[in-house]
Amino acid sequence: MSTPQPQPGVMDIALYQGGKSHVAGVANVVKLSSNENPFGPSPKAIEAVRDSATGLHRYPSTDHAALRGAIGARHGLDPDRIICGVGSDEIIAFLCQAYVGPGDEVIHTEHGFAMYRISTLGAGGTPVEVPERERVTDVDAILAAVTNRTRLVFIANPNNPTGTMIGEGEVARLADGLPGHVILVLDGAYAEYVAGYDGGAALIDQRDNVVMTRTFSKLYGLGGLRVGWGYAPQAIIDVLNRLRGPFNLSGTALAAAEAAIADADYADWCLAENARLRGWLAEALAEVGVPSDTSCANFILARFADRDEAEAADAFLQARGLITRKVAGYNLPQALRITVGDEDSCQRVAQAIRDFKGAA
Ligand SMILES: Cc1ncc(COP(=O)(O)O)c(C=O)c1O
Repeated sequence: MSTPQPQPGVMDIALYQGGKSHVAGVANVVKLSSNENPFGPSPKAIEAVRDSATGLHRYPSTDHAALRGAIGARHGLDPDRIICGVGSDEIIAFLCQAYVGPGDEVIHTEHGFAMYRISTLGAGGTPVEVPERERVTDVDAILAAVTNRTRLVFIANPNNPTGTMIGEGEVARLADGLPGHVILVLDGAYAEYVAGYDGGAALIDQRDNVVMTRTFSKLYGLGGLRVGWGYAPQAIIDVLNRLRGPFNLSGTALAAAEAAIADADYADWCLAENARLRGWLAEALAEVGVPSDTSCANFILARFADRDEAEAADAFLQARGLITRKVAGYNLPQALRITVGDEDSCQRVAQAIRDFKGAA
């Protein structure tokens, strides 16, 4: 008997593993597993969400003009070359849908974000994983992996889960080394955390084949509403908009994102707290023999001796209600990714790891 069959590639997708949010039998957990802003969204975004409730019977804007205008104003970008999506995940999916098909290759790095592989397989393409150099994107390894079947190259800068990044010169060298038929996607989910970094915007203005993805899920604390965006050459934006559902973002999500990006003072305060607590936490862990690379984002990748020790530390933390992220699925079994929480959470994590190491 014949049965329905999915398209090639779909059954090769391993389900995305999100950060845990519960521990059986432990109340009052602190979730440090999904790189969320521990301070939540701007109070102005919360107010905008409340205000949006009276308009829930209306369809939302389909062109997102107000939000694109606000993003353009904040970042000095042309709003016509911005596209908004249901999280930056949706922009990643559009890129794969539009430019990748069976037989095509998509390059991502060894410890690259899971959705690059998932969206590639969903489009019928072949993910190609290239090594990093000591948990840092290796431009030469990427360039060496390019073939005439390569369609996209994804790098997150800063990268998740390593927290490391490459400089603008290296990004430009990568862009220069790619053939014209390959799109370089600069995933800037954590770009806001890097002072003075434009996420690659200037490079995009000079090239036909460079795209940037960004999100409201991290610094702006709106992961629950799912708002992301992309910035690209006009020809690519025109392609992606053909795939975008006309009402992909709810009115509530649009209103919240507009209010969040307008509240620069709140974002700056969150950034300053993150930088202060990130440095403090990294140092506290290093003092007890748990190193991490200098993080450019809102998490640190704490490295233990081996997989066993990382798993034991994870269990120890969970028993104290502290949920971090195991990253064996990112080829980092010896590490735990820890979101930088508020002061109290950071102190609890540091104390728990001190106690864990002391007890070992
Ligand atoms: C590197 C990177 N890219 C993209 C995303 C997707 O974010 P969102 O779809 O919430 O915008 C994440 C989320 O964790 C991420 O870490």
